[in-house]
Amino acid sequence: MHFLVTAGPTREALDPVRYLSNRSSGKMGYALAAAALAAGHHVPLISGPTALPAPPGTTFLPVTSAADMDHAVRAALPTADVALFAAAVADYRPRQVASHKIKKNAPTLSLDLERTPDILGSARAAGFRGLLVGFAAETENLLPNARAKLLRKGCDLLVANDVSQPETGFDHDDNEVTLLFPNAPPRHLPRASKQALAEIIVGVCSQLMVPSPP
Ligand code: C5P
Repeated sequence: MHFLVTAGPTREALDPVRYLSNRSSGKMGYALAAAALAAGHHVPLISGPTALPAPPGTTFLPVTSAADMDHAVRAALPTADVALFAAAVADYRPRQVASHKIKKNAPTLSLDLERTPDILGSARAAGFRGLLVGFAAETENLLPNARAKLLRKGCDLLVANDVSQPETGFDHDDNEVTLLFPNAPPRHLPRASKQALAEIIVGVCSQLMVPSPP
């Protein structure tokens, strides 16, 4: 099967030398790509800027901004069987990108921001009928927020991640997540390496792709 994976942060340009971004390392998405490859799948990996080497064997598609990632995902979705959207896509970008470096002339500076495309949230409307997997990083009300996201974005599986914990989540090697399904009870996966969790998540996706007997 084709397991499309998005990973890493996006960068939203403010001017030629500055951008808005977040602390995503890309580790969870790269671990998912490696696990899907090890399970014998084809893996297009659409990644924002990270310090990680591309897992050998993936079709590596580097991107910078949310708009770039959106274009790359739209091109790759028609051939994907499973889409794992682990990227930490910036929610807002500067409405205007300054053509020259912004000068520090004024004592304060306000940024005018606009929403970026919701890549996961538009996959169904774009015609994707495969298995759709979202990730939710939350710092409060983890499970209610994640469940709402699962239903709102038409996901088959949502991986909920409490990023307020000190030793898991953003930029750590370990994670602790809860898998949420539209019609089945949640499944908690206790703290483990992102690699080990990725293998479980890819296994769950493969099981969900097997048609149930009549
Ligand atoms: O709504 P929120 O950003 O918390 O949702 C997180 C999930 O949505 C992740 O799977 C992330 O990859 C995806 N996402 C996206 N496009 C955005 C924002 C988030 O695909 N603009």
